[in-house]
Amino acid sequence: MSAKQPVTQATADQKELEVLPSPSAHLTRRTFLQGVVASSLAALGAGWSSAALAAKPGGGGGGGGGTVTRNPLKIPPAASPTSYALQAAPATVDIGGGKLSNVLAYNGFFPGPTFRANTGDSVNVQFTNGLTEETTVHWHGMIVPTAADGHPRDVVMPGGSYSYQYPIIQRAALNWYHPHPHMMTGEQVALGLAGAFILNDAEEAALGLPSGAYEVPLIIRDVKLDRAGNLTYNAKSSGFLGDIAMVNGTRDPKLDVDTAIYRFRVLCGSNARLFKLALNNGAQFTLIGNDGGLLETAATIGQIEISPGERFDLLVDFRNLAVGTKVMLQDLNSGWNLLEFNVTRQVSIAGGLPTGTLSSVTPLSNPVVTREFSFDGMSRINGKVYDINRIDFQVPFGQTELWRFTTGGNAPHPVHVHGASFQVQSRSGGRGVLFPWESGWKDTVLLQDGETVEVLIRFDGYRGLYVMHCHKLEHEDMGMMANFEVI
Ligand code: C2O
Ligand code: CU
Repeated sequence: MSAKQPVTQATADQKELEVLPSPSAHLTRRTFLQGVVASSLAALGAGWSSAALAAKPGGGGGGGGGTVTRNPLKIPPAASPTSYALQAAPATVDIGGGKLSNVLAYNGFFPGPTFRANTGDSVNVQFTNGLTEETTVHWHGMIVPTAADGHPRDVVMPGGSYSYQYPIIQRAALNWYHPHPHMMTGEQVALGLAGAFILNDAEEAALGLPSGAYEVPLIIRDVKLDRAGNLTYNAKSSGFLGDIAMVNGTRDPKLDVDTAIYRFRVLCGSNARLFKLALNNGAQFTLIGNDGGLLETAATIGQIEISPGERFDLLVDFRNLAVGTKVMLQDLNSGWNLLEFNVTRQVSIAGGLPTGTLSSVTPLSNPVVTREFSFDGMSRINGKVYDINRIDFQVPFGQTELWRFTTGGNAPHPVHVHGASFQVQSRSGGRGVLFPWESGWKDTVLLQDGETVEVLIRFDGYRGLYVMHCHKLEHEDMGMMANFEVI
């Protein structure tokens, strides 16, 4: 457990330099990777400039031209977490078109296997750390006991193992898993460690939503490649930004689709980048769910902004498109083409877009306590840099509370809480409104400059130690995180 208390945080906090201060533990730890992701580290050692060379014409997420060669979208293999051996280790993977890239991967897959389970199942994942630095596995969105939460205190040392065991006590949702070690989450996620966890339940099954080949997880993120084409990382306090997009670890991806309705389980897996999703044919998304599962009713929406850690459940209707039509999923923020849909097969499938009630969400109400959290600079909450050994506050089990998140600047800060989902009540300042994708249950909410966001939250899963933090992973690593205890 955290024998190597770093001293970097204070420095980062005082100066909030553009590039993280490099001496001491942060870089020392990164150099552990040297032997295994050698070329990635070579790029780091050679200075930060190599990334700029990585983008090729037509690369950059497909900037636009018709000359881009598109690669079939990878679909990570499905796996049952009820008895599973999971390993994090360096791997060489095809990122599209036979181009091999050194990454960090779960069981050799980038992204990791997609876990699928049902409410009521028990997760039993035997994890081994094949990295040369410590890690943990955090089950983002899953309500789990502290010992299974991947808290940075529960580090798994290189070569070590850990058993993540918990019953699934929550409703259907798209959740995910990724490392959460002290100060190294950004690096490990950027280099490839993340996977989806699709949780189903009877309520959702009864809706008969698109499934099988018509339900597709889309892990959207940006990456940086070095000259040799390996994933690389440079820690900037303003947040790591890659220069090309990948969906499911595929560069310039395409997906052949039928004339049918598809259900896309979208996860923003980037360290810091926000995406504004839209379809280039002007078609609308039918939003049916978010972080915490189904919304009460569907919303039709043309553009949707997703920040690191957030998930959206989107239906896209290709039924009326002619075979041969191409539709591009775009990011309006960067102008990147993210994923091309090619309508290749005419089918006729019964059913349509859902109308009416999808699910019921019981509103939380009558908070008995209000807590204020100010996201300060790039490394502090309420003025404090994260201290792994300090408990910042205690929350009584089962008590409904109002939490107010504010920031004076340096946003976006996607605020994420472990141990419970919350319901977003209001946003003032900044964008000043709530968006359709912020209804229902959330575990991550975007705080932009000047904004105050209020949520209602109640911890009724487990007592124990959890964290809340900014999910811009560089902010998290620099200390924009707090420990709290549900008592
Ligand atoms: Cu997705 Cu505490 O993280
Ligand atoms: Cu932040």
